[in-house]
Amino acid sequence: MRVGIFDSGMGGLSVLHQALRELPEAEFIYYADEEHVPYGEKTGEQIRGYIDEIIRFMLEKQVDAIVIACNTATSVATKEYRSRFPVPIIGMEPAVKQAVELYGSLPGRILVAATPVTIAGDKLHHLVEQVDREDKVDLVALPGLVRFAEKGDFETEEIEKYLREELKGYAVNQYKAFVLGCTHFNYFMPYYKRIFPGNIKYVDGNAGTIRQLLRKLGYKESKKALKEKNNGRVSYYFSGTPVTAGEKKCIDIYMEQLEKLDSI
Ligand code: DGL
Repeated sequence: MRVGIFDSGMGGLSVLHQALRELPEAEFIYYADEEHVPYGEKTGEQIRGYIDEIIRFMLEKQVDAIVIACNTATSVATKEYRSRFPVPIIGMEPAVKQAVELYGSLPGRILVAATPVTIAGDKLHHLVEQVDREDKVDLVALPGLVRFAEKGDFETEEIEKYLREELKGYAVNQYKAFVLGCTHFNYFMPYYKRIFPGNIKYVDGNAGTIRQLLRKLGYKESKKALKEKNNGRVSYYFSGTPVTAGEKKCIDIYMEQLEKLDSI
């Protein structure tokens, strides 16, 4: 079985990281659209053009399913758009529903962070309208985090400075949950922990997306492996071109960072 996973860049590696564990026998193609990152600052029409090209690429590689490991791309690729293709295409959206279901009854508010395109998009606004009955959800665009992630800057003071500046208008101590609505945001967990005081819960869409992938592939439950086996099971492409040895080394650093974050 072959599964295609794509993102504008390195964010979707966090989805791949989880998929490698949940689907130990699958082969993966990971496509980072490095020529066009960041999607979060492009138009819907531009992003749909990129997605069309990537899906065509994946279909040529004869994948059995495609995961859009990108909330921004999903927010402009409707269900109707996705259903035109001959294999299941699983999208991702900020896990607002999950956050409200799990933590809505606790005192405090829920903050959803994503890219500017996702934050401004109708899709997220409809979702919030549907689930946020008590008006407890706030939204914030954090495009700077995509830039830090793409540079591989996981540990620089600039990240904390940037976050504090962007969150200046939000009373951070009122939040009980923080939704990571962009796959690039997973790399910065230690900074959120520094900025949000107390026992705030963090929610991302990765687990839900993988569950949906397993369902579409006909699995009743995951065949979770204790440790991901990455050797030779993933072919990586940057905008359609196989990655060089140097680029692969760089990807390995991201995967190691994700591994490290699992244990905090
Ligand atoms: N990783 C992407 C997401 O989940 C988008 C980042 C970008 O290209 O702006 O939304």
